[in-house]
Amino acid sequence: MAGIMKSLRSRFQKEANKAVENYTASVSFDHRLYRQDIASSIAHARMLGRQGIITAEEAELIVAGLISIREEIECGDLKLDQALEDIHMNIESRLFEKIGDVAGKLHTARSRNDQVATDMRLFAKEALSETVKLLREFQRALLDLAETNAEVIIPGYTHLQRAQPVLLAHHLLAYFEMFQRDVERFGDCLKRTDVLPLGSGALAGVPYPIDREWIARELGFGQISSNSLDAVSDRDFIIEYQAAASLTMMHLSRLAEEIILWSSAEFGFVEIDDAYATSSSIMPQKKNPDVAELARGKTGRVYGNLLAILTTMKSLPLAYNKDLQEDKEGFFDTVDTLHSTLGVFAGLVRTLSVNAGRARRAAGESYTLATDLADYLVKKGAPFREAHSIVGKLVRHAVNQEKSLQELPLADYQSLSPLFGEDVYSITVESSIDARDAPGGTAPRQVARALKRARERLQE
Ligand code: ARG
Repeated sequence: MAGIMKSLRSRFQKEANKAVENYTASVSFDHRLYRQDIASSIAHARMLGRQGIITAEEAELIVAGLISIREEIECGDLKLDQALEDIHMNIESRLFEKIGDVAGKLHTARSRNDQVATDMRLFAKEALSETVKLLREFQRALLDLAETNAEVIIPGYTHLQRAQPVLLAHHLLAYFEMFQRDVERFGDCLKRTDVLPLGSGALAGVPYPIDREWIARELGFGQISSNSLDAVSDRDFIIEYQAAASLTMMHLSRLAEEIILWSSAEFGFVEIDDAYATSSSIMPQKKNPDVAELARGKTGRVYGNLLAILTTMKSLPLAYNKDLQEDKEGFFDTVDTLHSTLGVFAGLVRTLSVNAGRARRAAGESYTLATDLADYLVKKGAPFREAHSIVGKLVRHAVNQEKSLQELPLADYQSLSPLFGEDVYSITVESSIDARDAPGGTAPRQVARALKRARERLQE
C-alpha cells in the first residue's frame, strides 16, 4: 500500500481488505476532477501562504509541485493508483514524491469533504457554461431551419390527428421556446452552484485564520457558503442540473419523435441528410433516423441518473457520508449524454430538408378547415356551439360522399344552414393561417415577429 494511505491508517492494526479497497475506490471515475482538484489546491495553498499559516516558500513549493503534477496527468505520465482511493489522494501522494514532507502542509485547514464539494462545483460550473453554449447552438439551428422555410405549411396535430394548418416555422418556434426555458433553468442553477464550500473543513469549519473570500475570487466563485455542515453535504446543485437536463432531454425526445415520424414514408414532410442517417444490415433500401432515436432513447438514462441521485440523497444524516461519492458517475454521464445529444442533433436539424409540397397537401386534407367553417358561421351570427354542430354534420356528409369540403356544392352547405354563401369557398389553408393573427398565433405576421424576437433573444 502506498505510503500516504498507510499513514492515514495509523490507528488500525491491519491493512484494508482488497475487496474493500476495490469497493470504496473512486479514482476510476473521479479522475475527471483532476484539473478542478489541482486548481482548488493551488488556491488553497496560496491562501495558506498569504495568511501566514504556512510560509510563502512552502506555498510556492506546493504550487510548483501541483502544476507539474497537472502536466504529468495531461501527458499521461502519471499512473493513477486505485490503492490511493480517489483522485485527491493520488495527487497528494504524488506531491509527496515530488517535493517531500512539505507536501504534508497542503491539507492544513482543509478536508477531503470541502475539497471534493469544491471540485464538483467547479466541474458543474464549467459543465453549465458548455451546456448553455450548446443549447444556444441548438436554438440557432432551429431558428435557421425556421427562417429558410418561413413559408412552409404543415398540418398541426392534436391526438396525432390532423387538426389545423400551421406554419412549420411556428411549430419549430415552439421548440425554441422550450429550449429558451431550459437555458433559463440552467442559468438559474448556476446561481446556486456558484458558491465556494472550501474552508468548511470536515464539517465544523476550521481553526485557522483562513481567507475564504480570497479563495472564492481566485477560483471565480461568486460567493462563499454560509454553513459548513450544509456546504460539505449539499448536492442540490447536482440534482438541479440533472433535473434541468431531464427536461431538456424530454424536449429533445419530443422533437426526435416528430422527426422520426415526419421522415417516414407515411408523413414524408422531411428528409434526413445522408450524413445523419444510418443504414440497415439486411434491407438495402433503408434510411434510418438513428440519431433521433438515440436522442429519444438516451432520455431514459438521464431520467435514471436523476432518480438515482435523488434516492441516494434521501434521508442522509448531516454531514458528509460516503454515499455522496455516488454523486459522480450519474452526473458525469448526464453531462456527457446531454452534450453529445445536443451537438449531434443540432447537425441533424441544420441539414434537414423539407418537402414543402407534401406538407402543404397534407395540411389541406382530412377536413383541417372545419374549424374555419365554424368560425365563418360565427361571423355570420351563429353561436359557436351551433356552428360546430352544423359543420360536424357537413363533415359527416363529405366523408360519406368521399369528398373534401371544398368539393361539396353550395346546396349541400345551405341545406344545413342558410348562413352559408358563395364566399365559403374562399376559405383555404392560407386564409386559415392568415386568420390566426392574435399574438402567439400562426399567422405569417405573428410568426415573422416571433422569428425576429427569437433572433434577438439569441443575441442576449
Ligand atoms: N472520494 C470521496 C467522495 O467523492 C472524497 C471525499 C472523501 N471523504 C471522506 N471523508 N471519506 O466523496
